Amino acid sequence: MNIILLGAPGAGKGTQAQFIMNQYGIPQISTGDMLRAAIKAGTELGKQAKELMDAGKLVPDDLIIALVEDRVSQDDCKHGFLLDGFPRTIPQANALKEAGIKIDYVLEFDVPDEVIVERMSGRRVHPASGRSYHVVYNPPKVEGKDDVTGEDLVIRADDKPETVLDRLKVYHETTQPLVDYYQAEAKAHKTKYFRLDGTKKVDEVSKELREILG
Ligand code: AP5
Ligand code: ZN
Repeated sequence: MNIILLGAPGAGKGTQAQFIMNQYGIPQISTGDMLRAAIKAGTELGKQAKELMDAGKLVPDDLIIALVEDRVSQDDCKHGFLLDGFPRTIPQANALKEAGIKIDYVLEFDVPDEVIVERMSGRRVHPASGRSYHVVYNPPKVEGKDDVTGEDLVIRADDKPETVLDRLKVYHETTQPLVDYYQAEAKAHKTKYFRLDGTKKVDEVSKELREILG
């Protein structure tokens, strides 16, 4: 089962990716997490990505496409994978198609911009796993600590309110056209497309996902 999670920054892609990964045993491929890991490791890719990410801009398509094509060809993706944060541009979506990668489900999380800004201000993340929490809506069991490892949670560098607004602008201009793109694919029976109300509680969104994915 190959899945794409589509939605604005903070729509809940990473949160529901954890659910899908645990429920269906398919790996999450988060380009954002991969890029943050590259920055931390000080690789060439990380050096090229850091400034762009901190400014809420997209990393160039060719770098991201190479990263994803390499990742989906790994063994653990043989029985499916979950793309979180990719594709984010029409050229990225075309690259998937040209690589012959079939997508079974496109799941869009719909959340208005006002809700996003509030969510981001309370987000705390566990960098090593990509697990994300919210101080009010999805708090960790112990304040400031990851539920699984007990390690410290941090605030993401691009969650400053002004950067969040820039990221939302990029989303509406560059990524939202993928909604039409994949709805057209669904009409041509090349994929299934579902839009979920991402303003519902975390558990309620997960429940809807289970109904869709079976
Ligand atoms: P990336 O890491 O992908 O960030 P994003 O798409 O902006 O999405 P987020 O991770 O911010 O949000 P999310 O939807 O995962 O929400 P979450 O579940 O954490 O990308 C970062 C950067 O990397 C980009 O800006 C770009 O520079 C670069 N990049 C990455 N991919 C790229 C690509 N393909 N091409 C080019 N550049 C790329 O939830 C958010 C908060 O809300 C959390 O606090 C959570 O606990 C809370 N929450 C979640 N669900 C709910 C709910 N139902 N109710 C209440 N609170 C909730
Ligand atoms: Zn995320």
